[in-house]
Amino acid sequence: MTKTPASDANKMWGGRFSMSPAEIMQEINASIGFDKALAPQDVRASKAHAAMLAAQGIISKDDARKITAGLDRILGEIEAGTFEFSRALEDVHMNVESRLKQLVGDPAGRLHTARSRNDQVATDFRLFVRDWIDGAEAALADLQLALARKADAHCDLVMPGFTHLQPAQPVTFGHHLLAYVEMLGRDRGRLADARKRLNECPLGAAALAGTSFPIDRHMTAEALGFDRPAANSLDAVSDRDFVLETLAAAAITAVHLSRFAEEIVIWLTPQFAFVRLSDRFTTGSSIMPQKRNPDAAELVRAKVGRIAAAFQSLLVVMKGLPLTYSKDMQEDKEVTFDALASLRLAISAMTGIVEDLKPNAAAMGEAAGSGFSTATDLADWIVRSLGLPFRDAHHITGRIVAAAESSGVALDRLPLEVMREMHPGITEDVYSVLSVRNSVKSRASYGGTAPQNVRKMARAWIKRLEKAPRKG
Ligand code: ARG
Repeated sequence: MTKTPASDANKMWGGRFSMSPAEIMQEINASIGFDKALAPQDVRASKAHAAMLAAQGIISKDDARKITAGLDRILGEIEAGTFEFSRALEDVHMNVESRLKQLVGDPAGRLHTARSRNDQVATDFRLFVRDWIDGAEAALADLQLALARKADAHCDLVMPGFTHLQPAQPVTFGHHLLAYVEMLGRDRGRLADARKRLNECPLGAAALAGTSFPIDRHMTAEALGFDRPAANSLDAVSDRDFVLETLAAAAITAVHLSRFAEEIVIWLTPQFAFVRLSDRFTTGSSIMPQKRNPDAAELVRAKVGRIAAAFQSLLVVMKGLPLTYSKDMQEDKEVTFDALASLRLAISAMTGIVEDLKPNAAAMGEAAGSGFSTATDLADWIVRSLGLPFRDAHHITGRIVAAAESSGVALDRLPLEVMREMHPGITEDVYSVLSVRNSVKSRASYGGTAPQNVRKMARAWIKRLEKAPRKG
């Protein structure tokens, strides 16, 4: 290996180095290829830091002004896509600082007083994740609203409710959609919760131990919208819980979207034909002209793979890492960026799908009555009208179902005499509960599927969601 002059070593930290890094060292070390996504947050945090340094008399007001003007220019270059990122400068922090030096000269060198890349990256990444949470929360609220509106429009549309993917009891389509509104509500709650814990500022923890400069960490925390500075400098630079929590919440959200996507795929099969999607959300086959494939729903179903994997990946990176910063932690970003972007896309795609979705009332209604789905209503009628214990009513109903099955008719077509063979007390009145419409209507218990419940719930959600301010 040839000895190269010190000027070839990294100019941001190369003081004690006399050789430039091996090509492969640069290759494994550089993060600029992906952490350039943090450039806006990096500039934001640097501006807050510079203002605080000047307010505390650690740098001059004049230097702070020049630094701020330079950082604003850099932000403009980043937004315009003209900023030239260099791999030799490793990461976003050193790329920004190096460009600042070109733009404003010596004052740029004072910006790194009382901070380190360790607290810098922790701050930037928190800001990034926080921005994402705000956007995702708003997008989830939009999806909830789309679902609630569809639920309101179809609050009395009858469909089969399933357990084990076997027809269980009739439910309403609106009720089914509102189940997802509830799930997404919890998802939003988890994100909001993660955001609360995330919202502490690591800046000023410096490399790990704090700093001897008289900084004001409360000032930078406030300027960046954090609730307070992180209380322990070692924890501040080594904590990635905020990413883990967000990825965990993201993975659960992705699972919910995936379950719904799977239902849409099933419903779109010609065998079910419960719903239709327009050309906007389906694709054709290059060989089979008759096909209409639910690709968007399938991709939403699949995205959970990479999102859940990102959570797993970061857990494994963090496991066993001693305090404080280790370069391992640079591996936190790519998977996170990918997972968070994937979830945002999946949420938007799902919102489009829901808005586009048209239920097929005839197919759903017909399926709702199949599989003796009102058998529980029959058992309940026996309990109510004949005063039998539920277990006995269950047994009698089972025998009636067997009779209907062997004669190949639905429960509401089974002659009264046949039912009376199983219990002589059964009267004509039983037919009033055997239709799917009456079945759903009767389930008016709180949280039940009765159309009047569903309408009330859907409207309450719509009201809440329409007036809620969106941060994202
Ligand atoms: N690019 C680094 C990362 O993403 C920034 C922090 C580097 N700190 C250090 N001491 N090498 O983690």
